[in-house]
Amino acid sequence: SSRVMLGPLVAAIDQGTSSTRFLVFNAKTAELLSHHQVEINQSFPKEGWVEEDPKEILQSVYECMERTCEKLTQLNIDISNIKAIGVTNQRETTLVWDKETGEPLYNAIVWLDLRTQSTVERLINKTPGRNKNHLKHKTGLPISTYFSAVKLRWLMDNVDEVAEAVLTHRAMFGTVDSWLIWSGGVHCTDVTNCLGDQSAALVGQMCFQEGQAKNTYGTGCFLLRNTGAKPVMSDHGLLTTVAYKLGRDKPACYALEGSVAIAGAVVRWLKDNLGIIQTSTELEKLAASVGTSYGCYFVPAFSGLYAPYWEPSARGIICGLTQFTNKSHLAFAALEAVCFQTREILDAMNQDSGIPLTQLQVDGGMTSNRLLMQLQADILCIPVVKPSMPETTALGAAMAAGAAEGVSVWSLRPEDLSEVTSEKFEPQINPEGKGHVKHCYLISILEVPICLNTDLQ
Ligand code: G3P
Repeated sequence: SSRVMLGPLVAAIDQGTSSTRFLVFNAKTAELLSHHQVEINQSFPKEGWVEEDPKEILQSVYECMERTCEKLTQLNIDISNIKAIGVTNQRETTLVWDKETGEPLYNAIVWLDLRTQSTVERLINKTPGRNKNHLKHKTGLPISTYFSAVKLRWLMDNVDEVAEAVLTHRAMFGTVDSWLIWSGGVHCTDVTNCLGDQSAALVGQMCFQEGQAKNTYGTGCFLLRNTGAKPVMSDHGLLTTVAYKLGRDKPACYALEGSVAIAGAVVRWLKDNLGIIQTSTELEKLAASVGTSYGCYFVPAFSGLYAPYWEPSARGIICGLTQFTNKSHLAFAALEAVCFQTREILDAMNQDSGIPLTQLQVDGGMTSNRLLMQLQADILCIPVVKPSMPETTALGAAMAAGAAEGVSVWSLRPEDLSEVTSEKFEPQINPEGKGHVKHCYLISILEVPICLNTDLQ
């Protein structure tokens, strides 16, 4: 049968925390033509530790690429029309490998990992006034277990193979993007990790104007607001980061970021650790069957709390249990927890910018959960807008690759993107209705507030 004539195609490798994807888009229409996804195993060798196998990550990319190309061929689409491949990835996850052999010298230490807690405490203790924000004016970040530098320090101090490779100049260090690209012989990254996945989602959601924002529900959830050509320092626990820099001579664009460590990961936990669901998609049905948490609250602080607290010693808690509570209420409370965490970030973002967001653009795997989306609109008291094609992270990476110098097959303007239609979830809670106002649970562990502000007024 005859080949389907589509013109140039662009692809994206999206290597996330929980899964790897390869996706191919039509560069003229942004239509998603084919994709494949492979789940990534995580190991938890000690309490608070989270690792992934670098070779499995690489292999998953090959597998996704091969399977997607097979699917395209079955559709009679010529894969030689793929003109560029963007790489987007879970950020901060840290790898060290041997330059000569290409062998990883340790597992990838995942961004969620807490093993550097004592290193972080030691560093903070050295700062005047024990201030975790001491370096913020330079880095935009608090001193935290989340970021790569402390993970690399740990590897150098605790893994003999790494220490020796550093001494003999054979150690290569990178985030996942660098590790993947190194398999092609080049050691590089970009200012956001080659469009890191959260930056890519901002691009894929067309948030090119100052003030525009998106929230991506992946393993964690990350709300980024474009602040334009100027880095803006947060007074409310948010990060200051480069949003994107699309080209050598193009200016950097900055963002304020609110990072929530646990979003989709709570679903995986309910599935793998408690076994109350068999598949992630069952959660929505289970939660919808009761439509309330019945006073049960879930704070999934499995990896401490990120924004706005930056408290690595916080731990998860489920409270408000009665004999009436069942797994459906727990499922509902887990979804609410994702929404409450986002509400906290939005409040911080609004306070920092002084201009409240009037709606929230969302994307990522969890957005297929319509109950979650409605709850999110209710809890934020603003509309939540979801694109019909939820793979915005990959779209952003593909756009950047297709528009890159020397490629230039992606010439679509945001307003021309015919494929990007959206669905809006309007808040249904009457903000005047006191009966609907959730109570704020303030729970302290070691005098650290780990509650989520749930006052909806
Ligand atoms: O900073 C970590 C983030 O990039 C991970 O994203 O989609 O894997 O939760 P995700």
